[in-house]
Amino acid sequence: MSPINQVIINKETKNKPIWIMRQAGRYLPEFREIRKQNTDFIKLCLNPNLASEITLQPLKRFELDAAIIFSDILMLPYGLKQKIEFKKNFGPILGDINLNEISKLDEIDFVERIYPVYKAISLVRNNPITKNKSTIGFVGAPWTLLVYMINKQSPKIKLKDDFFKDDFLINRILLILEKFLKIHIKNQIDNGAEIIQIFDSWAGLLDEKHLPNYVYIPTLSLVEYVKSLNIPVICFPRGIKNYNEYCNLVKPDVICIDYEVDPLKISKNIKIPVQGGMDPKILLTEKENLKKEAKRYLDIFKDHPYIFNLGHGILPETDPNMMDYLVKTVKDY
Ligand code: CP3
Repeated sequence: MSPINQVIINKETKNKPIWIMRQAGRYLPEFREIRKQNTDFIKLCLNPNLASEITLQPLKRFELDAAIIFSDILMLPYGLKQKIEFKKNFGPILGDINLNEISKLDEIDFVERIYPVYKAISLVRNNPITKNKSTIGFVGAPWTLLVYMINKQSPKIKLKDDFFKDDFLINRILLILEKFLKIHIKNQIDNGAEIIQIFDSWAGLLDEKHLPNYVYIPTLSLVEYVKSLNIPVICFPRGIKNYNEYCNLVKPDVICIDYEVDPLKISKNIKIPVQGGMDPKILLTEKENLKKEAKRYLDIFKDHPYIFNLGHGILPETDPNMMDYLVKTVKDY
């Protein structure tokens, strides 16, 4: 069993395995090199040879315990035929939603649009580099995908006042997302994903009273589905205040924490395995400081099943030497 699965399944506390969100990405010159020649981000995600090569890039440099597949949570709206492009220095821009077209779409159409993602997963899983490491598949949570689909770009800090105005549209999309997210999860697992992480990057935008409808209930349905396939599921509800309530209601196998929560409080109150937490900006400071902060997390979770990771994705301006230093610090602990 891979070290990460030992933490999740056997609740082992001796080893602190490590992987990093966005470990395959722009801070690596070898990624930027491929990206320069492939200006269409979606097409790059749909190229199994390049997507698997990019996925493995960080594993060739650093002693990481998992490969997270190079893809994007927005491949799901792409699969639902919503237009999407990634603009440089701006992020994703989505087209209008055509509810009639989305409602008509069936499983075969959807899978036909994104099957290269599954091919990339199977290439990664079958590569000897990932032996004894976990291959992680992922999806966006229904709420976060809804935000992108309706808002049509990143919401930055706050939702527009009229976000909830079309109740019919919102509830239809949530049901459609639930159906196709399950299809997407199943195909990733069938092609070699051994863990699923659910990214709810915009959970923190919601008022408490909206959490049950938009976060807890739709995410619980996915968590139950992944568990029914005998695969562990990690949830990352970025920006929420009450991790206790989230864990009690959504019941993930692992909770991934963001950098704004107090890890000490988490270690005292949360009984399930924990992942992540450290602020990605620490990697932009000095080695000594990086070591101190990494050790702070490792000390706090010394007797807890813990997977080292950051509290959000590694920043593009990070020096790969700092990443190397971080991985070594965790491995030497
Ligand atoms: O290494 C990995 O973690 C795997 C690949 C991965 C990407 N996106 C590749 C990517 C994963 C797991 C994601 C998840 C994702 N995508 C999330 C959830 C996590 C989070 O960051 O909160 C979200 C919200 C997205 C949507 C998305 N994709 C945005 C808003 C952007 C633009 C902003 C940015 O960081 O550039 C992307 C683009 C994206 N996804 C890049 C990568 C490597 C950068 C593409 C590039 O310009 O080269």
